[in-house]
Amino acid sequence: MEYIKLNNKIDMPILGFGTYSLQGAECEKCVSAAIEAGYTLIDTARMYGNEKSVGNAIKHYDRTKLFITTKLYSPSRSYQKAKVDIENSLDNLQTDYIDLLLIHEPYRESLDMYQAMKEAYASGKIKALGISNFNSSQYLNFIKTCGVIPAVNQVECHVFYRQSLLQKLLEEHGTHMQAWSPLACARNSIFNNAVLCDIANKYEKTSAQIALRYLVQAGISAIPKSSNAERIKSNIEIFDFVLSDEDMSKLAGLDKGKTLFGWY
Ligand SMILES: NC(=O)c1ccc[n+]([C@@H]2O[C@H](COP(=O)([O-])OP(=O)(O)OC[C@H]3O[C@@H](n4cnc5c(N)ncnc54)[C@H](OP(=O)(O)O)[C@@H]3O)[C@@H](O)[C@H]2O)c1
Repeated sequence: MEYIKLNNKIDMPILGFGTYSLQGAECEKCVSAAIEAGYTLIDTARMYGNEKSVGNAIKHYDRTKLFITTKLYSPSRSYQKAKVDIENSLDNLQTDYIDLLLIHEPYRESLDMYQAMKEAYASGKIKALGISNFNSSQYLNFIKTCGVIPAVNQVECHVFYRQSLLQKLLEEHGTHMQAWSPLACARNSIFNNAVLCDIANKYEKTSAQIALRYLVQAGISAIPKSSNAERIKSNIEIFDFVLSDEDMSKLAGLDKGKTLFGWY
């Protein structure tokens, strides 16, 4: 595993496990499979309704070896609500700290929510603060007055939507860009893409491994999700090879510069 040093000097694994759409016993099973396979970063969110299942899985492992991310969303849209919901997330996750807490998307009340997050950060209940789905202008506006520069902005990012300009801007201000849907959520026939398949054959890897390696090699952390134990395991096997500059350029050529999800 490789790590990203966040702007407050905390080390965050560059590859983590996404849990969107995993629920109940299946979520617990997949999170356990991920930890057994070597993942230490687990990404959840209040919106996914699975914090408790994540908590049920992680309580069987050494908490100090794990990096847990969760996110506040619309129901927490005030200082007071965010304050209460941070405690609720801690309860759900059955832990006394969250490694990284994000605001799931920009809200009119983002700064109020962030105030509650900063207080929890100061008291050690949160180890790093961040945001998600903020575009360039929303980010620049936010950092004018937010006080603590977000350590992470988690955004849509994959071979078809690389977001290199946003990555550059975030890095200039000290924020790391993390990729959600790093496998494009299986859209666009990503696993059969000719460029990915050619490069995969060359390195004796899968197209999914090439898509993930491309991101981490570009300094972007990624949180692929899978509900299948073999795919969970293979998605983390990307640290035993290096893509050549030529192959990185070929992969950069897949960028269409357009979201596949229309989040913004
Ligand atoms: N902040 C945000 O707004 C936001 C938005 C979206 C997602 N996220 C986070 O990012 C995580 C990842 O995004 P995502 O779940 O949307 O999509 P993803 O990780 O890009 O792709 C998941 C899809 O790819 C399939 N898959 C995974 N590994 C594979 C492999 N090796 N070969 C073939 N198929 C494979 C999965 O199917 P199987 O399960 O059948 O393997 C699933 O259909 C989420 O789980 C969530 O934690 C955050």
